Amino acid sequence: MNDVIKSDFLVIGSGISGLIFSLEASRHGTAAIVTKRGLTDTATSLAQGGIAAVVSPEDSFEAHIHDTLRVGCGLCHRGVVEAIVRAAPERIRQLSELGVEFCKAEGSDEFDLGLEGGHSHRRVLHVKDHTGRDIEEALASAVRQEPNIIIFENHMAVNLVVRDNEVLGAYVLDTESAEIRRFASRVTVLATGGVGKVFLYTSNPPHATGDGIAMAYRAGASIMNMEFIQFHPTLLYHHRVHSFLISEALRGEGAVLLGADGERFMPRYHPDAELAPRDIVARAIDAELKRTGADHVYLDISFKDSAWIKNRFPVIYRRCLEAGIDITSEPIPVVPGAHYCCGGVKTDIAGRTDIKGLFAVGETACTGFHGANRMASNSLLEGLVVGHNAALAASEMLDRPIRADEIRPWDPGEATDPDELIVISHTWDEIRRIMTNYVGIVRSRKRLIRARNRIDFIRREIEQFYWDFKITPDLVELRNIAVVAELIVRMSRMRRESRGTHYNQDYPREWDQAVDTVLRKGYSPVA
Ligand code: SIN
Repeated sequence: MNDVIKSDFLVIGSGISGLIFSLEASRHGTAAIVTKRGLTDTATSLAQGGIAAVVSPEDSFEAHIHDTLRVGCGLCHRGVVEAIVRAAPERIRQLSELGVEFCKAEGSDEFDLGLEGGHSHRRVLHVKDHTGRDIEEALASAVRQEPNIIIFENHMAVNLVVRDNEVLGAYVLDTESAEIRRFASRVTVLATGGVGKVFLYTSNPPHATGDGIAMAYRAGASIMNMEFIQFHPTLLYHHRVHSFLISEALRGEGAVLLGADGERFMPRYHPDAELAPRDIVARAIDAELKRTGADHVYLDISFKDSAWIKNRFPVIYRRCLEAGIDITSEPIPVVPGAHYCCGGVKTDIAGRTDIKGLFAVGETACTGFHGANRMASNSLLEGLVVGHNAALAASEMLDRPIRADEIRPWDPGEATDPDELIVISHTWDEIRRIMTNYVGIVRSRKRLIRARNRIDFIRREIEQFYWDFKITPDLVELRNIAVVAELIVRMSRMRRESRGTHYNQDYPREWDQAVDTVLRKGYSPVA
């Protein structure tokens, strides 16, 4: 029987919010970081665009707040938006001190600020087109030097341990030894990122399977606004290269969207054309694809100076060239794909959930900041501010006992049948196809009913597997994407209106009042 691993803070996930939490919390106690792959194999590392903050005298907090509220389509929580926007400059200073070198305007000490959809001012701090990677590396390097932090790579959380609405820790699968280990802590933090792998096409890394949201739901936490899945308008369309984002920053620098016939179509859809909020651009592309029967559109920045393109977008230039596309001389084939989950585990602005001792931060959480549609480059900001706030709040809970004795050894289960394991990958595909076909950019009543019936059936089937079979990483993830898919479908059915990223053609109008959708296991309305 293995020993229970004890720490003051158990942090599940290692993107921007998990790492900033761990760094801050380690001043007050010990932290164990559990992460599915390597420490920096996260969605944060893939973020290209940047991080939004008011750092220019021409900009104002009021303008950033106003833009966030407008793009969020009436559903943002105003107090949360105000607090996060106002906290941004201080957190940017912290990142600079940790070594992140945001680009400066040529020959000046001022930041070179980018523009993206929905922003009324240039306010996106960036490191060329690899902002997320540089932030992640700076945080990871600081975390690695901190003696109070122990990192468990290749460790996948399976389930939280909760008694009487208090979290005691988690069961975690060591994916190298296939052993289930027990972690006990005073505070547990879910920072597992998003849910992109619930859909066929996504900008997210392959392990973005909504683990934190699924675990929190199973444990009895409230989940909020999962119907709001943001589709990024421009993923590279290529038979070999999957999941590669073409940053909105290109459109911020003047890139235009062209149909298969070479015509620029966005001015027909919105006065801000390519810089309209993302939900509008993604729906416009979807409409163009349906209208013309094409399977992709194009994004063109080739009219800009070639040396400038290579310097400003080195990663995109290189990746496209590897795929046979020279973006300095030809348009880039693109399609929309699942990018960001605006919903998640319901929390306050310090990441507190409604389970005692359990926090959620970053894309796993829903604070109310993004409302019905996240504004570009607002998510790294939210992860940073709420991760920091959560560490301060959690450090006040160190008087909670570590109840390691109450975490029983895991019952490993016996059955293994390799022939049946292929069923797991088939079921993965089935769920992703159902979600893409019926719960995508444009939804309808019938499509959602069809999705609900099929997902319900698959969920029951998976529970059977889960209890009969020895646990594997694929099975853990499959079980999680099935829960997340169910939550998205149920909440989409509950919202009989269209707002932000949730568009239902049978209910095209907005309700007069904006309300959040909340589901909790055992207390949920039928949908
Ligand atoms: C992008 O670079 O287009 C993504 C930025 C974001 O989603 O915030």
